[in-house]
Amino acid sequence: MLSDSVVEGPPPFTRLWAEIVGVGRDAGSGGYLRYGFGEAVRELEGWFRGVAAADGAHTVEADGNGNLFAWYGPPPERGDAVLLGSHFDSVPYGGGYDGPLGIVSALLAVRALRESGREFRRPVGVVAFAEEEGSRFGVPCLGSRLLSGALDPDRAAGLVDRDGTALAEAMGGRPAGARPELLDRIGVFVELHIEQGRALADLGAPVGIASGIWPHGRWRLDFAGEANHAGTTRMADRRDPMLTYAFTVLAANKEARLRGAHATIGRVEVEPNATNAIPARVRGWLDARAADDATLEALVEAVRTRAVDRAARDGTTLDLTRESLSPPVEFDGGLVTAFRRVLADGVPVLPTAAGHDAGILAAHVPTAMLFVRNPTGVSHSPAESASDDDCAEGVRRLADLLTELAAAG
Ligand code: GLV
Ligand code: MN
Ligand code: MN
Repeated sequence: MLSDSVVEGPPPFTRLWAEIVGVGRDAGSGGYLRYGFGEAVRELEGWFRGVAAADGAHTVEADGNGNLFAWYGPPPERGDAVLLGSHFDSVPYGGGYDGPLGIVSALLAVRALRESGREFRRPVGVVAFAEEEGSRFGVPCLGSRLLSGALDPDRAAGLVDRDGTALAEAMGGRPAGARPELLDRIGVFVELHIEQGRALADLGAPVGIASGIWPHGRWRLDFAGEANHAGTTRMADRRDPMLTYAFTVLAANKEARLRGAHATIGRVEVEPNATNAIPARVRGWLDARAADDATLEALVEAVRTRAVDRAARDGTTLDLTRESLSPPVEFDGGLVTAFRRVLADGVPVLPTAAGHDAGILAAHVPTAMLFVRNPTGVSHSPAESASDDDCAEGVRRLADLLTELAAAG
């Protein structure tokens, strides 16, 4: 006789996760290259359509902004829908959980509700948001910003990736922009996400609820100097933007530490990028985050002032351009309280400094987030991880919330 485990096979989370774990993964590093509107994301979207259809979705709908919605139960036009989901895209060489865990968990929560035999009292949707990381076109939460009207579709259409491809080309046309009638269908949005810190690990809790998101933004730093010969140009005669850039990296780190804030320059481009030439230009991107708006503003201003001052001494120039800003988010207090009651066992409530599509939707619909424990806290890296048991627990908790919100009877 076969044992139970052979009859049943791996648990549902493990099985569904295995279907996508290899998509867009770099064989060498184990990191993921899942860029918005790219091949790996397209493959994942095809997979999403198939799973949704097999699980009884009556419609899978593209919103013209790169976001994909699978709808179950009563027609979504009725309004008051419960929407679950997250994003498929990754940062370059990122982890596999950041984003896809929320979509796989949402699909499984809907499946669990269907398999319980209970009817859907409200429309239920699962969404895959486009280009949440902004790794390809520079603007984070691109799909949810377009959908909600926070990003002008004409500005978005002209954004270009590192290869010079415009968003409109990658999407096959200008994005649709704000879809208020689609947003109006949504009564509540819940995004499950891997935690991108160690708070749950420290608390010994597999799952937590988000209280809010720190304000954060991205600024492009254009340093310009004079290209010249590395061997023959006297040190005193140089106008080297690399020096100004290097100083700015250190200043950003120090100014952030002084304020209990976060500042990172994680991307840089150099021209002409030659070992034996003083650079003509250095372009870096500052990612800055703080607990409140005033601190964030003071941090960026301090970095700007110190960098401009240094540029004057180096004979270089600096232009600082804001590319995106995400205001602080406080998730719906009523939902947080209600979810704590449903989840029952003193599930922790914690803030995060990571950005999410839930933060964009929160300005329009009651929104909440569930976090799943990340034992090391590492994220945006191939080392990001979560145990199958914790992920399965996340699915159970999400299914409990969905049942409470949307099951009849
Ligand atoms: C997204 O994960 C971000 O916080 O940048
Ligand atoms: Mn991320
Ligand atoms: Mn994410």
